[in-house]
Parts: sequence; structure tokens; C-alpha cells
Amino acid sequence: MSEVLGSVKEAPLSEATRARFAREVAKYPAEQRQSAVMACLSIVQQERGWVSPESERQVAEYLGMPPMAVHEVTSFYNMYNQKPVGRFKLNVCTNAPCMFAGGPQALEHLCHKLGVEPYGTTADGVFTVQPSECLGACGDSPVMLVNDRHMCSFMSDDKLDQLVGGLRNAED
Ligand code: FES
Repeated sequence: MSEVLGSVKEAPLSEATRARFAREVAKYPAEQRQSAVMACLSIVQQERGWVSPESERQVAEYLGMPPMAVHEVTSFYNMYNQKPVGRFKLNVCTNAPCMFAGGPQALEHLCHKLGVEPYGTTADGVFTVQPSECLGACGDSPVMLVNDRHMCSFMSDDKLDQLVGGLRNAED
């Protein structure tokens, strides 16, 4: 990326990224290449850490769809990072079943422990904490998802402390 007039300009899509996009597009009929939008956004996020407006524009151009339609996808699913996040993104479910089982308290505990507001990132760039909609594991509430991949069930303050400590050690 290069700095242009105070804003960050993304590099164009690399050949390698375009090849990954092409593999996703090939899974759909030719006239439905836009169906690969979620996969392409995931690839961008994997490679760049987040999906910037410029990345949305690049995906839109590649798939032949309006940038606003791509933005609607990015902003609907909270697995897409619309701004840079820390090395570990902690999504705490605060939807109804988790809400009644202590989800909001778990969120508050984590924010307090890490010294951030919801959606905030620690100064060292290691943790981002954010509330989340239902993660599909209501029976294990309250739950938290780490980096959109690893589900942590039945979160108590102690378990959260252990988890944060473990992730911090992994980072060191
Ligand atoms: Fe939290 Fe469903 S409400 S996982």
C-alpha cells in the first residue's frame, strides 16, 4: 500500500489474488459470477486483514457488480472487518439467549480487562473486542468466536481470563 494525499491507497489486485478469485468464480455458471462475492471478500480479508472501501471497489470491478452491492454484503456480515482489527478478534455474542446467559457481562469483562470500548483495539494491536449477533451455538451460551474460526463456549470471567492469557502468550 502507498500513502496518497493522506489516504491509504490499496495496491491493485495481484495476479495471485485474481487466480484465487477465478477459482471461486469457476464454481458458478458464467452469468452468475457475482455469486462468488462472499468468497472474494474473504480472500481479500485473508490477504489484507480487512475489507476497505477500495478493496470493495476492486472486488466489484472484478465481478462486474456495483460497489454498493458489494458494500451491502460487507456491512451485513460481521465476519467482514470494515476497519483494521487486532491480531485476535474476539466476537462476543450478545443476542437474546446469550444475553440472558451473561453475554453482555462477558463483553464488559473483556473490554474492562483489555482497556477498550466495544469495537476497540488494544494499543498494542493484539486484541479487538466486539459484540456479535447470534453465532449459532445458543445451547452453549454465552459464546465467543475468536478470529471467525474458534468457538469458545460457556464463557465465565475465569475462562475469559485464561483465554486472553493464552492468546497473549501465543503472541509473545
Ligand atoms: Fe448467542 Fe445464539 S444467541 S449463539
